[in-house]
Amino acid sequence: MEFNSLNYTGLNTKQYNPNFTACSRDVYDALGRLYHRNDTSMFRVDLGDWDKFVDYIGNKFKNTDKVNIYTLASSAGDEVYSLAIKLLEKYGEKGASKYFPIIASDYDSRIINMAQKGYLPMYEGEAALINKHSGGKFNEYFEVTEKIPDFIGKMDIDYDFMTRVKPKLKEKIQFHTADATEHCRKVQPDNTIILARNFWPYLKDESVRIKFANDLYKSLGKNSAIVLGQFDDTAGAFASKNLYDAGFVCHPEIYTIFEKNKITDWTYRY
Ligand SMILES: C[S@@+](CC[C@H](N)C(=O)[O-])C[C@H]1O[C@@H](n2cnc3c(N)ncnc32)[C@H](O)[C@@H]1O
Repeated sequence: MEFNSLNYTGLNTKQYNPNFTACSRDVYDALGRLYHRNDTSMFRVDLGDWDKFVDYIGNKFKNTDKVNIYTLASSAGDEVYSLAIKLLEKYGEKGASKYFPIIASDYDSRIINMAQKGYLPMYEGEAALINKHSGGKFNEYFEVTEKIPDFIGKMDIDYDFMTRVKPKLKEKIQFHTADATEHCRKVQPDNTIILARNFWPYLKDESVRIKFANDLYKSLGKNSAIVLGQFDDTAGAFASKNLYDAGFVCHPEIYTIFEKNKITDWTYRY
């Protein structure tokens, strides 16, 4: 099904809600207790200014041939697809190629299975946001489908419409099932960006969060950084402090970014 990006505003069918939570899914343990809530969305606003963020990446790695980007706790892939679209739109297919493939992982194997098969559920409003960030190219990156496979039907996820991610975007991402606390020790050290966003409160114990921050610091080398989400400093977690205590330095203008070494030219103006 083609999506009419010209007429579609995202405002006409449901009340506009800026806190999109596409792919909302409650996960219960064997005793039926709520284990975690899986919420994500395209171009999640808590990252701040997505244009500034890709400018930061472009500037940081302007003299680098290969950049390693990871998303730990990626959920269905909304965040990683948002970043890939911004990189493609800003630097073009050739200029952005050094950032791909982006490696995404989550310990929720069912959500990763859905991502590996190229499905991305969305809420009303997200298409308008994708168009805003891509110059109206929703249909170049996604195709709305009404054919919902059984395995997704059984997942009990919340969404307004289902999309297939088109190959030109899907091929830029590799999805794996992995626990972030283990995956973080297997990353390339140098010229690396790790998005570890909006999941720290799921690491229930403070000692686990401290170890995770220390492991991130040990795993990373030159010219590398971690990116947090807003949720990571709430709900009993204080990830910024954990990263700071581990030795990371907060970027003076983009407070969600923590660098291993102050190599970025911070006098750079966006
Ligand atoms: C709120 S979503 C965040 C998704 C995305 N990073 C974002 O910011 O939009 C939280 C995700 O963290 C995942 N998660 C929680 N603990 C994890 C862990 N220890 N390892 C990997 N994934 C984890 C959950 O499965 C869920 O998909």
